[in-house]
Amino acid sequence: MTKRTIVVLPGDGIGSVVLRQAVRVLDAAGFDAEYIYGDIGWEFWRKEGNPLPERTLDLITRHKIVLFGAITSKPEDEAQAELDPSLGGKGFKYSSPIVGLRQHFNLDICVRPCKSYKGNPLNFIRRGRGNTVEEPLVDVVIFRQNTECLYSGVEWTNPPEQVYKAFLTHPRFRKNFGDVPVDELSVSARIFTKKATSRILSAAFEHARKYGYKSVTVCEKPNVVRETSGLMWRLAKEMQKNSYSEIKLMNTNIDAQMMWLTKNPEDYGVIVAGNMFGDIVSDAFAGLIGGLGFACSVQFSSDGIAVFEPTHGSAPKYAGYEVPIVNPVAMIESAAMMLDYLGEKKLYSDIRNAVAAVIEEGKVRTYDMLKMTGKPEVVQNGAASTIRMTDAIIEKLRKL
Ligand code: NAI
Ligand code: MG
Repeated sequence: MTKRTIVVLPGDGIGSVVLRQAVRVLDAAGFDAEYIYGDIGWEFWRKEGNPLPERTLDLITRHKIVLFGAITSKPEDEAQAELDPSLGGKGFKYSSPIVGLRQHFNLDICVRPCKSYKGNPLNFIRRGRGNTVEEPLVDVVIFRQNTECLYSGVEWTNPPEQVYKAFLTHPRFRKNFGDVPVDELSVSARIFTKKATSRILSAAFEHARKYGYKSVTVCEKPNVVRETSGLMWRLAKEMQKNSYSEIKLMNTNIDAQMMWLTKNPEDYGVIVAGNMFGDIVSDAFAGLIGGLGFACSVQFSSDGIAVFEPTHGSAPKYAGYEVPIVNPVAMIESAAMMLDYLGEKKLYSDIRNAVAAVIEEGKVRTYDMLKMTGKPEVVQNGAASTIRMTDAIIEKLRKL
């Protein structure tokens, strides 16, 4: 095994708490790596007026593989109030370093696996025939286009004249909105490009093929949003026909998918969607497998940059606890995904098996798994701390 270099960005709050635990697990699994710590987050906004300093971008450019905890973002007025007084009035404007990372490196593919662990008390259950209780095991991987759609930031309130005139050339706009005063109009553009849409689709199909998923489901709304959702669906059909005929292609509308979510979540394999519907459907599936304590992800660019991170944020109210209580599994799973990506298949499955064994055994459970309210006393009341949970995973790893 060659020694790897990993850029570690702990960030804020519980981000740095869970990241430390993930590195302990990687070490215990025997992953041979040099970790280079980089600066990101609120502290750097306050001290330097930039939550994503240039030196961090350089580190990532050089080493490419990133383990990221979480950061804190706050509204602009709070950001300004917390800026170091010596930087005040110099034109510094806060912007989210996550969005910054995504844009700088064009991390256009976001992958969020949602796989339930047997014995997780947070798993979704439903009523079966004859009043039985069923616990479907979910194994879904969501591919979310990460840079376009409604989140591309192309939007206006009171659009400038040129834009407004362009809208007036569209018959539907003229008919339905032509008499609305321009200063009462807000418009957000939903942009899909053929290039990025093809990239997310082929990443989804490749994943299905590599990991043996039987179907790829496009989760959009092509019957109504004909141009953008329609583009994704048309390209998906073409791609499946030409290159992935062994994989079943399905088409669900986002609204219907939300309804089917609780009816038959076990029937889906790989799901692919644009940015907004991908955001929605990935949170929804994460809810079925235990929520934020279990939701891991990776963001990729086309030139080999990969950022592995839990879906949760910095949960500031838990950050100051003397004994940390948050669930480290989402971060540990994100680190395991990194091993899989780097081709360390054995280490990847060791970590997954160790986590699975701890959860199935059920002796060590964090507060969220016990449905407690996250207060410092949870540890006295039987919940495992973040460290205890990690210790249990490491103990299992040693026994494998
Ligand atoms: P959050 O994800 O930080 O926390 C929401 C709630 O989820 C927590 O109060 C806690 O009850 C639960 N939770 C989160 N992680 C958990 C874990 N590992 N184990 C158990 N329970 C967990 O979201 P929130 O409160 O909306 O945002 C807090 C800060 O995080 C904000 O400043 C926000 O901007 C930032 N944020 C950062 C993200 C990132 O860095 N990727 C993503 C989401 C939010
Ligand atoms: Mg979300």
